[in-house]
Amino acid sequence: MEHKGFVLWFTGLSGSGKSTISRLFETEMRKRGASIEILDGDEVRENLSKGLGFSKEDRDTNIRRIGYVAKLLARNGAIAVTAAISPYAEVRDQVRRSCGRFVEVYAECSIEELCKRDVKGLYAKALSGEIKNFTGISDPYEAPENAEIVVNSETQSAEESTAIVIEYLEKQGLIKAAQTA
Ligand code: ADX
Repeated sequence: MEHKGFVLWFTGLSGSGKSTISRLFETEMRKRGASIEILDGDEVRENLSKGLGFSKEDRDTNIRRIGYVAKLLARNGAIAVTAAISPYAEVRDQVRRSCGRFVEVYAECSIEELCKRDVKGLYAKALSGEIKNFTGISDPYEAPENAEIVVNSETQSAEESTAIVIEYLEKQGLIKAAQTA
């Protein structure tokens, strides 16, 4: 069986583990010989979406752009992994419909835990009002109701979450099992 192109769409709050799991998944897939690209939220905003802010309109534009590039990659046989918050269900579902093979991964984590970790120091700034419209604090996050995969960085390590993603994709026949020596 060959690897198939598909979109692996992470959604979840800032700091919920989207990028970390994406990178672990990428490493494993490269070992297995797959073509894979990650469209990471922070990186996309430096490049493809430079200049966009965090209004609903700008976020939706950001997500549509990511979805468009992911679709092009996937239809050429690559695994297109996206790791943006993508807080709005409607535009996520639009992208899902346009992409063909599409697997949504909800990276779940409570606000309490994210505020405690606060790796980038943004939650403190959002709570003090220094940053406005911060997802989960002062801006909406619409959790997916029908994500194919749910992972949780409070109860699982990043490695365990990655293994859950891989197991699902193997079962679906979207990726090959690892070669055993
Ligand atoms: S999305 O809503 O358009 O999907 P995206 O994933 O690209 O968001 O960017 C989120 C990242 O931008 C966060 O991880 C954080 O580092 C930064 N950021 C800056 N301002 C905000 C904000 N108001 N809301 C959420 N994230 C923000």
